[in-house]
Amino acid sequence: MSDTAEKLIAELKNKIEEYNYQYYVLDNPNVPDAEFDRCLKELINLEQANPHLITPDSPTQKVGGKLDSAFPPITHLTPMLSLDNVFSDEEFSAFEQRINNRLKSQDKIGFTCEPKLDRLAVSVVYRNGLLDVAATRGDGKRGEDVTQNIRTLASVPLKLRGNFPELLDVRGEVFMPKSAFEQINQSAIDAGEKTFVNPRNAAAGSLRQLDPAITAKRKLAVYFYSIGTVEGVELPEEHYARLMQLKAWGLPVCPEISLVEDSKGCLEYYKKIAQKRAQLSYEIDGIVYKVNDVELQQELGFVAKAPRWAIAHKFPAQEEMTQVQAVDFQVGRTGAMGVTLNSNVSNRELNQSSCLAH
Ligand code: IVH
Repeated sequence: MSDTAEKLIAELKNKIEEYNYQYYVLDNPNVPDAEFDRCLKELINLEQANPHLITPDSPTQKVGGKLDSAFPPITHLTPMLSLDNVFSDEEFSAFEQRINNRLKSQDKIGFTCEPKLDRLAVSVVYRNGLLDVAATRGDGKRGEDVTQNIRTLASVPLKLRGNFPELLDVRGEVFMPKSAFEQINQSAIDAGEKTFVNPRNAAAGSLRQLDPAITAKRKLAVYFYSIGTVEGVELPEEHYARLMQLKAWGLPVCPEISLVEDSKGCLEYYKKIAQKRAQLSYEIDGIVYKVNDVELQQELGFVAKAPRWAIAHKFPAQEEMTQVQAVDFQVGRTGAMGVTLNSNVSNRELNQSSCLAH
């Protein structure tokens, strides 16, 4: 019995991994949800009957146990860097100029353009293809151990596919899709609980949960965008090709990324995504441009904590639409007048703004 169970379990695991890859990485689900659910249920039943056959990389092991202690610190294998920002086309031109001056190159410089997800950076380390440790960015050198929580994210594979490296430290952004944010806020309203101000706070709050089962319910997602450390394989010499390599290993990469020939292409991409922004299923706060050629990246190097070969082009800050519903005036003893505005902004902190007028 156990022999056939072992075979069946292996087959079901492969099937489920394949379905997950089609769904989360290729964005092209090829089976109905019911078929996925049926396989998972069958696997759960078989594993319950044969507990000795449960392995840590089984898709049933996504909801981990409780954490032993509150997020102990993890030292990153290589520091997690940050990005400098520009806020206008002119500032972007100055960035490009600095690059050209340093490289003294006459050639066009190609860039990979990526939406800048609004932000909770994580590092996920795979050893021999298996998810080992996951940590938040923290101060860039040391972050918090969120392995058990990251394991619960449906789009994070517990096991890499294909010709994976012995060691891979991959970095990306955890986020809460807009639909999941609306859903958890609606449930919070129904339960009379506190709502989250925005998807970014909701994502951070959900990842840093001491009970990973709560993280699992919050429907977080991840897109990976860089490699910190790799051992055991040769990586392609272009950033874009590296992102494609991550996809081939089963790691989700933002589908909107694009390779452009020069800085003009960057600004066209910025306009295109700015127009599409409201339709995207997740929140972004700008675009990241990265010099595509890794050799040029190395030549350019870093200043302080940010690379010279990448920049974030931020969107203008979004103003909240506010409708004033009531105005109260109070004249105090000293003659100063207090004004209270009640507005319809959902954010609690903004709900009542007061000021003093003389
Ligand atoms: S690259 C050396 N790419 O933005 C490379 N970062 O403001 C460093 N972020 O800490 C990061 N989307 O958390 C990169 N496509 C993207 C990103 C991205 C969001 C975040 C990341 C970083 C922060 C810097």
